[in-house]
Amino acid sequence: MSYPITRLRRLRRTPALRDLVAETSVRPADLVAPLFVREGISDPLPIESLPGVVQHTRDSLRAEVAELAELGVRSVILFGVPAHKDAVGSGAFDPKGIVQLALTDLRSDVGDDVVVMADLCVDEYTDHGHCGVLDESGTVDNDATLEIYGKAAVAQADAGAQIVAPSGMMDGQVAHIRGQLDDAGFTDVAIMAYAAKYASGLYGPFRDAVDVTIAGGGDRKGYQQDFRNGREALAEIEADLAEGADIVMIKPAVTYLDLIHATRARVNVPLAAYHVSGEYAMIKAAAANGWIDHDTVTLEQLTAVKRAGADIILTYFARWFGELARSA
Ligand code: PBG
Repeated sequence: MSYPITRLRRLRRTPALRDLVAETSVRPADLVAPLFVREGISDPLPIESLPGVVQHTRDSLRAEVAELAELGVRSVILFGVPAHKDAVGSGAFDPKGIVQLALTDLRSDVGDDVVVMADLCVDEYTDHGHCGVLDESGTVDNDATLEIYGKAAVAQADAGAQIVAPSGMMDGQVAHIRGQLDDAGFTDVAIMAYAAKYASGLYGPFRDAVDVTIAGGGDRKGYQQDFRNGREALAEIEADLAEGADIVMIKPAVTYLDLIHATRARVNVPLAAYHVSGEYAMIKAAAANGWIDHDTVTLEQLTAVKRAGADIILTYFARWFGELARSA
């Protein structure tokens, strides 16, 4: 051989060698399970575009969280599906709103053993499907929406949420929510900010899950980010940190690994990534057709999100991963 060969294959020879030198691992405790709870149903309802995910009743939700905890998945984030929607999304801040009731149920079951979070937005609760209240021209009114987010944060904290996760992409939402929580005495309730959230085509199955249709065939491009922009995500993250975010999130995950990586290098708080409904559905659909291998692709994607720099992953695969880890 007239030239030197760099021998990198030596450490790839056996499973034990590969495990020894693995740089990244995913643990069930890194995962947050997104869970849907629907008002007024007596049995869980499957969500067609999210195979294996259901709209829970209050009781089936309690059972699911207990089973997740058994599997080592010790964080959940709740989304509510109310029986009635209105212009301002009252169900989001009503003490008897479905998520508030579910938060109280769960905290009485699991106490501090599971981290119980609530998504903080109004799109599930508004009759027009937007993440805020509308002004006369039909545009989402930023500052009027903040008032509602503040009330929702206090209602969720009061019901037992340990973390609230504002997802509406209103300017100033973290500062306003922090202020309202502190004023109400909830200084220990943390904020996980959906800091960089893109107007993505990958939220479709989620909207089925929460029965949301945006009025008039509208979209969220007036508040969620344009996927042509990366630096803007860093500006969003800096703003949320300055306003008091405890955890920042990037959403979706796999199409934004560049931003997860860039953010990890810049911030010193925990970084979350949301592997969203469309990312889940794509794997499920292709695997159901036999075109890709479900387990291999799922592990590859979750690991890639961690390798890019995320500490926490919100994923509909949380239960699957917990079961896999248990059987390993
Ligand atoms: C807004 C919210 C959405 C998701 C999480 N929070 C929907 C949206 O912005 O339209 C999407 C999550 C997913 O697709 O899995 N409350």
